Amino acid sequence: MRENIHEAQSTEDHHQKYQNPITRLSSKLTKTWVTTKIFIFVLFIIVLSASFSLMHTFVLGESRLQIPSIRNTNKSTTITTTTSNIPKILVKFPLNCTSLNGNTTQTCPLNYPTKFEPAISSSETCPDYFKWIHRDLKVWQKTGITRETLERAKPNAHFRVVIKSGKLYVHQYDKAFQTRDVFTIWGILQLLRMYPGQIPDLELLFLCHDRPAIWKRDFKKNRKDTWPPPPLFHYCGHRDAYDIVFPDWSFWGWPELNIKEWNKLSVALKEGNKKVKWEDRVPYAYWKGNPHVSPIRGDLMRCNFSDKYDPMVRLYVQDWVREIEAGFRGSRLEDQCIHRYKIYIEGNAWSVSEKYILSCDSMTLLVKPEYYDFFFRSMIPMKHYWPIRPNNKCGDLKFAVEWGNNNTEEAQVIGRQGSEYMMKNLEMKYVYDYMLYVLQGYGKLMKLNVTVPENATQVCSETMACPITDGGQIRQCMDDSLVMYPSVKAACDMPPPYGDYELKKFLKKQESARRKAEKWTDQYWNLRGPK
Ligand SMILES: *[C@@H]1O[C@H](CO)[C@@H](O)[C@H](O)[C@H]1NC(C)=O
Ligand SMILES: *[C@@H]1O[C@H](CO)[C@@H](O)[C@H](O)[C@H]1NC(C)=O
Ligand SMILES: *[C@@H]1O[C@H](CO)[C@@H](O)[C@H](O)[C@H]1NC(C)=O
Ligand SMILES: *[C@@H]1O[C@H](CO)[C@@H](O)[C@H](O)[C@H]1NC(C)=O
Ligand SMILES: *[C@@H]1O[C@H](CO)[C@@H](O)[C@H](O)[C@H]1NC(C)=O
Ligand SMILES: *[C@@H]1O[C@H](CO)[C@@H](O)[C@H](O)[C@H]1NC(C)=O
Ligand SMILES: *[C@@H]1O[C@H](CO)[C@@H](O)[C@H](O)[C@H]1NC(C)=O
Repeated sequence: MRENIHEAQSTEDHHQKYQNPITRLSSKLTKTWVTTKIFIFVLFIIVLSASFSLMHTFVLGESRLQIPSIRNTNKSTTITTTTSNIPKILVKFPLNCTSLNGNTTQTCPLNYPTKFEPAISSSETCPDYFKWIHRDLKVWQKTGITRETLERAKPNAHFRVVIKSGKLYVHQYDKAFQTRDVFTIWGILQLLRMYPGQIPDLELLFLCHDRPAIWKRDFKKNRKDTWPPPPLFHYCGHRDAYDIVFPDWSFWGWPELNIKEWNKLSVALKEGNKKVKWEDRVPYAYWKGNPHVSPIRGDLMRCNFSDKYDPMVRLYVQDWVREIEAGFRGSRLEDQCIHRYKIYIEGNAWSVSEKYILSCDSMTLLVKPEYYDFFFRSMIPMKHYWPIRPNNKCGDLKFAVEWGNNNTEEAQVIGRQGSEYMMKNLEMKYVYDYMLYVLQGYGKLMKLNVTVPENATQVCSETMACPITDGGQIRQCMDDSLVMYPSVKAACDMPPPYGDYELKKFLKKQESARRKAEKWTDQYWNLRGPK
């Protein structure tokens, strides 16, 4: 429990106020808009014979102003598109909850498609960060994953997920902190709804703590009893660890901190960015969080003060207890993009706040992290963010801010490119595509007979969501992130994996961008004497 409190404070720096009913309603429409976006695209580009009522919804979705009489609220709206000559019938599958009164148990519906042929084949390559999937799984390429190999991961796992014939079973070993496990499983369930029939049978073990657990130093190729390392799914990776990186729970919501699922939140952030133009934003670097979770954060707080110069930073301590008590008033994420520069610094490990900070259209000053989440490894310094050295934070921060204020055009471009990376490459569709490819790649490695363990239970969206009827945030996040029907668009095309040469070249590119910033910074400080 001690560790848990520690973790709670470590991973998140932001949250959002609960929306009032009207905004919520309009956001609901936004959601409709977002989930059907791919669809619209198709309709506009390929299929010109779309049904009129569908168009009507899109218009409403886009204006997001009034509360319209939505004709499309019928439980199973049937949408017919005609791509190539084959008509595809698309039916919506909302949660099918059995009636609340009485003591019948919730069952998993049998009518959700178990196979679905996407009408639109992919014509785009996935973002570059997909290239890392292959590398994350490479260590098992030769040996595959046997029962013995898999079970060695169990002592570190919070739960086991078994997918067999498209059905999902969970065996929980340990309760994870807050709802991390709940929303991680929920996310995999949504993936199954998105791409029915495309997830192979598999068994996986998942760790929900902050830090990876399968450290390379403990597993050596020449020691047969430890090789290959046990495969463990986790939210972040480290160059010295073998953990398999998987999207974290916050993409489906973090109700305890009032953080909405990513689909909805990214739209709100995009809107929020329009509120204060970059030029009008506070020309300082902003950070708010808990400095007590890691020495490097405590160290950052010292940049707050200098008797020789203006340190150009605005640092604030987040008091979670007080924030929670106050109902998160005044801490909506989308209202926090009012500084020209935002600092990202990891806590106990990677921080969920990364995607929110990078989404601000502000230039992110990113203290070089040790841990990475699934999308970070393909980001490029000076293109998507300004790199800050962990051992020279204060001087680097001051220079970066001054440089940005002297070169506003360039600083804005870096800010914008960082946000575009989040908004485009991290669209929920891509998050699911990433999960799909990780699980497909992982499934291929299974050298064991996938079996449902004795004490595992079948879990579906209905068994998770339907019993939650308190009108609270957890159910809200689930309703907001529910995948209503299989994707009409196929997953993006997997880019070829990094070859050794290509990877070297890419890492060199990252490194030389980092060096450039360091050189400028050092030149500046050398002229000015001691820091
Ligand atoms: C919903 O669909 C059913 C069956 O297709 C139909 O009987 C009903 O009138 C529809 N309801 C609305 C509100 O359109
Ligand atoms: C609930 O279950 C009990 C015993 O199984 C039964 O007596 C009772 O009628 C049930 N209630 C409803 C509303 O179905
Ligand atoms: C909901 O589930 C019940 C029982 O499983 C089934 O009979 C019914 O057709 C389902 N309804 C919808 C709208 O899918
Ligand atoms: C920042 O420095 C000022 C001046 O020393 C101090 O009053 C303030 O409390 C500091 N803020 C934080 C968050 O440490
Ligand atoms: C920014 O411009 C001012 C005024 O020209 C100059 O004194 C300062 O050194 C510049 N700082 C950076 C980091 O370029
Ligand atoms: C899986 O089960 C089949 C049939 O029971 C058996 O022949 C096979 O050896 C098993 N494979 C493994 C890897 O245990
Ligand atoms: C399943 O649960 C029962 C009762 O809690 C326990 O006795 C049994 O050992 C469990 N089986 C496994 C495989 O964990």
